[in-house]
Amino acid sequence: MSPVPAPSRLHELSAAELALYRQLDPERLPRHIAIIMDGNGRWAGQRRLQRFFGHQQGAESVQYVVETASRIDLPWLTLYAFSLENNLRRPETEVSFLMRLLRTYLVGNVKRMNDNNVRIAYVGRISELPSEVQETMRWAAEKTARNTGTTLTLALNYGARGEIVDAVRAALTKLAAENGGAVPLDALLTHLTEERVSQSLYTAHMPDPDLVIRTSGEMRISNFLLWQIAYSEIFVTERFWPDFRGIHLLEAIREYQGRERRFGGLGNGHASNVAEPEQALVR
Ligand code: FPP
Repeated sequence: MSPVPAPSRLHELSAAELALYRQLDPERLPRHIAIIMDGNGRWAGQRRLQRFFGHQQGAESVQYVVETASRIDLPWLTLYAFSLENNLRRPETEVSFLMRLLRTYLVGNVKRMNDNNVRIAYVGRISELPSEVQETMRWAAEKTARNTGTTLTLALNYGARGEIVDAVRAALTKLAAENGGAVPLDALLTHLTEERVSQSLYTAHMPDPDLVIRTSGEMRISNFLLWQIAYSEIFVTERFWPDFRGIHLLEAIREYQGRERRFGGLGNGHASNVAEPEQALVR
């Protein structure tokens, strides 16, 4: 028996969000959106506030965006909340503030996550985070583990290059174990495929992002999901993260739906142009 579909939650969108949602093609919604949340510091600076206020307001944005994502039934939402580089290169006071903010955010929002059927998960070198932070993270993940709507994945102490190195190491270790331990290097390398690396990434259980959003106008990826975004569409907005809301998520999806995804192929309407390549060379 096929599972009964969950009732639509579109009526929970605001009137403006619903109007925008109606412009979208429900058959072509992204399955996975990943967001580089940037501009908290600049948002605060514009208001002559300390950077901390920007982060605090950024945490509010997280909840707004998660709830809109859950109302449109987005299966996967991944947020870049704290990079390896943030951990290493920001002042200790800011890092410890971000850690406290994360805990406060999780404790304060687990009920809302459950009300919205949102499951919380994490990617990154979690074991390097302070133990009390890890404890709260585990608690929030357990409290929301049975939810079946959007999976909110927070990338924490995350860096994509580190992830790829971890994945290659894990894939080789697994290959060696499958082949009885002492395996010559060339045999290991022949069996090291893209698929095996993908299966060893922190994100092995999720589809690759269809859409990456970056706020605050910077045109960079900043070591986020480098492997997984090979064919993702990228949407950059000038808006700072603390001003980003659900409606802006829907605007990004509308732009995404206007793009033609080609995955390295030719896309629609080009097939007839390649019939006789010699003619093109002669001309
Ligand atoms: C970038 O702003 C944002 C971060 C370094 C961290 C993201 C954190 C949050 C959105 C708040 C908390 C999140 C959760 C999940 C509770 P920036 O400081 O680099 O801004 P700037 O480039 O303007 O200085």
